[in-house]
Amino acid sequence: MQLLVDLGERSYPIFIESDAYRSENLSPLVENKKILVVTNETIAPLYLDQLTRQLDSAQVVDTLILPDGEQFKTMDSLNEILTKALSMKLNRKSLMVAIGGGVVGDMTGFAASCYQRGIDFIQVPTTLLSQVDSSVGGKTGVNHALGKNMIGAFHQPKAVCIDTNTLNTLPEREYAAGMAEVIKYGLIYDADFFGWLEENIEQLKARDEDALKKAIYRSCEIKAAIVKEDEKETTGKRAWLNLGHTFGHAIETLSGYGRFLHGEAVAIGTLMALKLSEELSLIDLSVRERTAKLFHTLGLPNTIKGISSVSEFVDVMLLDKKNVNAKIRLILLSKLGEAVLTEDYDGDKMQSVIADFVD
Ligand code: NAD
Ligand code: GLY
Repeated sequence: MQLLVDLGERSYPIFIESDAYRSENLSPLVENKKILVVTNETIAPLYLDQLTRQLDSAQVVDTLILPDGEQFKTMDSLNEILTKALSMKLNRKSLMVAIGGGVVGDMTGFAASCYQRGIDFIQVPTTLLSQVDSSVGGKTGVNHALGKNMIGAFHQPKAVCIDTNTLNTLPEREYAAGMAEVIKYGLIYDADFFGWLEENIEQLKARDEDALKKAIYRSCEIKAAIVKEDEKETTGKRAWLNLGHTFGHAIETLSGYGRFLHGEAVAIGTLMALKLSEELSLIDLSVRERTAKLFHTLGLPNTIKGISSVSEFVDVMLLDKKNVNAKIRLILLSKLGEAVLTEDYDGDKMQSVIADFVD
């Protein structure tokens, strides 16, 4: 299966196949070029050789293996990638390849965006979350001690190669966290897809290949449509992808990076956003109940009791990048299959939703 992210001269293909990074797909982009492949210590023993074998038409291939973890998504790691690129004497025609989850993809993309003012890169995402979200759309970056993903750039990849076989080695929690992002697409954009996910949740939980490919394809299709409409998040449409993220980022920050995976925090944040949408009479209770049922089937966590006070939670939400004029902008649901970016809501209701979850 193949999709196009249609962005004019910055358009690129997404290959969704069991051998998506085969040389036939990669050769047109890597032929006679110097290639730096970036990955981490977990992915390297699993997939690095397999990938580099497919780069046989390149002029030079070298690799950089970074430590694994969100805590290494830093300026220091970025510097390591850039130092490696300089020591290899990569030039403007050279290319970086990121193989790994969203952490490796975001950092490598950012390094590619600023090396010699921007070189090409390819995403080979290996987590479900990175396959359906972070590898598509060109958001790249690193964390700062004062905030997550605060330093970065928009830089679209030249191709995204989604090898669904890589999911066979993905730990259960990581898989469920990625599935939460798949469910997000149904909630914000496609009620029928949401219904299809409900019907197929057992097959998806069991990683049935056909069901999984369909879920990844539809998720990427929706992401590509949203990115085409609002590439740099200027109209608010792209912000829909952040359903549950403002609450989720606060959960990640307040619980200390590590207790919850990003997708797990977003899943709880999504339930908070749905509850607030409900309190504001935008949707009825059934949407949250149906979503909670899907999350429960996947074994996602559903409590953050005691992580902070309501006021601490609100303070962290105030740091969100979507905010302007010191008001917390939120993505809420206006109906199943449609979201809205708003700062026009009753703040007391938001605080009472936070209290429901943290107290
Ligand atoms: P991750 O990159 O940390 O990967 C999760 C874990 O799974 C890691 O330990 C990784 O080494 C391991 N792993 C990856 N693939 C594997 C495989 N096939 N088999 C076994 N283990 C494997 O986390 P993630 O969930 O992929 O990405 C989260 C990151 O993505 C966050 O930093 C988040 O900010 C970012 N993100 C970016 C965007 C974007 O638009 N750029 C969107 C969403 C999330
Ligand atoms: N994951 C949010 C975005 O790509 O905009």
